[in-house]
Amino acid sequence: MNKSLKIFAPATVANLSCGFDVLGCCLDTVGDEMVVSLTSEPGVTITKIEGADLPMETHKNVAGVAVEALLKSYNEAIGVNIEIYKNIKAGSGIGSSAASSAGAVWAVNHLLNNPFTKHQLVAFAMEGEKLASGNAHADNVAPALLGGFTLVRSYNPLDVIKLNTPKDLMMTVIHPQIEVKTSDSRSVIKHNVSLKKAIQQWGNVGGLVAGLFTEDYQLIGRSLEDVIIEPLRSILIPEFEAVKEAAISKGALGCGISGSGPSIFALSKGEETANIVANTIREVYNKTGLEFDIHVSKINNEGIKILSH
Ligand code: HSE
Repeated sequence: MNKSLKIFAPATVANLSCGFDVLGCCLDTVGDEMVVSLTSEPGVTITKIEGADLPMETHKNVAGVAVEALLKSYNEAIGVNIEIYKNIKAGSGIGSSAASSAGAVWAVNHLLNNPFTKHQLVAFAMEGEKLASGNAHADNVAPALLGGFTLVRSYNPLDVIKLNTPKDLMMTVIHPQIEVKTSDSRSVIKHNVSLKKAIQQWGNVGGLVAGLFTEDYQLIGRSLEDVIIEPLRSILIPEFEAVKEAAISKGALGCGISGSGPSIFALSKGEETANIVANTIREVYNKTGLEFDIHVSKINNEGIKILSH
């Protein structure tokens, strides 16, 4: 059994417009690194966090609580040490907390010779999400753990389905350097939805899932529409409408808020279009005077990856 593992814990884009709390996908070039080790002293410790100001106390850290949830279901006293090297900024909307909690449970499971399935790991990692935002949503941790696109068909009981990844799909993400806390952007959402909007939304969820499986890029594009959450949250994101209009005018299939924002994602067919979309979004944001990062990534169908033993 290997005692220590260095992994890549990917960023993820949740919701994908129409699928609030149920749809998400995994990125390839953006993510954190973590070193996870089994130790002789039972219990979970976090001894290093670089790149972010996050709590080192196990019960206050998303990776710590996720691993504690896993160990509770594992009937042996195990010691785990975690080092976290953050590249994904907290409050960016590309699954920063999910990368840490999913990465930590995945690595511990691997070091223990995989006693749990990836689907079981989703439930442990959700404990980290609960700590981060007050809500145990799975639409970031599921794609981080399973790779590709995932659908949470049900939360109770938890039923997560891995979808198909059309090979030419590319993601462009802009991250304006302002922090929007998931808990804040969840507080602007209304809890009642009109039947008319619900019909539109679940039509789009079905359309997106069908489009992913049939690799029908135009259907994917038509389905990337959010009539429920986006109108309420987009006001928190500077130039959201201008970015969306510019991205679609340059050939993006669709564009929306990444997770709870402030990042904005655009899906395109092919790398060339994804880069053109990145350039046009950059032009829009250059005028704002705000700092921002732009990422272009293919969809990571594998999820978390081992960097070294
Ligand atoms: N589905 C969650 C939300 C994702 O939109 O609040 C948070 O990244």
